[in-house]
Amino acid sequence: MTPILVTGGAGFIGSHTCKALRASGFDPISYDSLERGNPEAVQWGALEIGALADGGRLREVLARYRPAAIVHFAALAYVGESNADPLLYYKNNVGGTAMLLDAMHDCGIGKIVFSSSCAVYGVPATVPIAEDARFAPVNPYGATKMFCEQILQDCAAAFALNFIALRYFNAAGADPGGDIGECHVPETHAIPLLLDAAAGGRGFTIFGDDYPTADGTCVRDYVHVSDLADAHVRALRALLDGADDMALNLGTGRGWSVRELVATVREVTACEFPVQFGPRRAGDPPALIADPTRARAKLGWRPHYGELATQVSHAWAWRQGGGKTWKRMRDSKPSDV
Ligand code: UFG
Repeated sequence: MTPILVTGGAGFIGSHTCKALRASGFDPISYDSLERGNPEAVQWGALEIGALADGGRLREVLARYRPAAIVHFAALAYVGESNADPLLYYKNNVGGTAMLLDAMHDCGIGKIVFSSSCAVYGVPATVPIAEDARFAPVNPYGATKMFCEQILQDCAAAFALNFIALRYFNAAGADPGGDIGECHVPETHAIPLLLDAAAGGRGFTIFGDDYPTADGTCVRDYVHVSDLADAHVRALRALLDGADDMALNLGTGRGWSVRELVATVREVTACEFPVQFGPRRAGDPPALIADPTRARAKLGWRPHYGELATQVSHAWAWRQGGGKTWKRMRDSKPSDV
């Protein structure tokens, strides 16, 4: 099996990608500091505990496994936290990526799939958003992804480095097999919070009902985490086959409003819960919808679980049926799995 180093392999999208890599005949090795990741999520391949900032440890792991490529997820990903502590984000996300690229260069490893975000576009002038839309991040988190993409381009121009940057829209759902799912502590994302509400824990607040959208609430393009994982495997294969450097949007091309999301969660879970309206959350763009045409053309990628109800039902099934893993993750420590 071809070894692939997965930074952030103990996180939400990273762990689903490790499962997909293993199913495709690769040997994923997770490199994770476990500051936000959770060891429960590492079920397919070895776990090497280490920080991106620790260049010595990184080089030791690269020398031991000699990975054919890197899939780089490890990053902090809370928009609100990035506003409050921007240097934490620049040090960890931008500094960490530079450290990783430096170690790769020293060890002669020249291929990387990078975890980027639709946050690089900020508030887009139009939707759907194509990859050539202007970069205009509205928070430090989005800015770190933009700078990392610039660093990748500069390194690719300077030495033997090939990259594919994947710009995710709103990651959602859970492994359809029930092995793994989403569990952030603290939780800020709409779907897990709605599932908490459905499970009886609390009510849900919709942030703003006066946006310039059809029903006044924000519209997002929710994309299933297993479809994201599949895109990473395809991107990796493309890189190993000599593909050119590129950036690709990963979304379904369809948007759902927060009101539609609430209705979907109520329908899928068959649970009622209180919903109230609150003020807008700072930095929330009204609508983010991907134009996924390029990912389809370049990778043959097409979401299998595009329906929001399917995504919510997988997340609900993991939380309820596979609840022991979810509970262990939630109770173990602050995590971002
Ligand atoms: N929302 C609520 N109430 C909540 C939580 C969320 O109404 O309690 C709304 C948000 O305003 C937003 C939608 O539900 O309109 C989705 O919110 P999430 O927090 O789940 O996701 P975001 O769209 O804010 O964030 C996602 C990614 C980020 C990325 C960002 C880009 O999770 O990593 O898109 O804007 F930076």
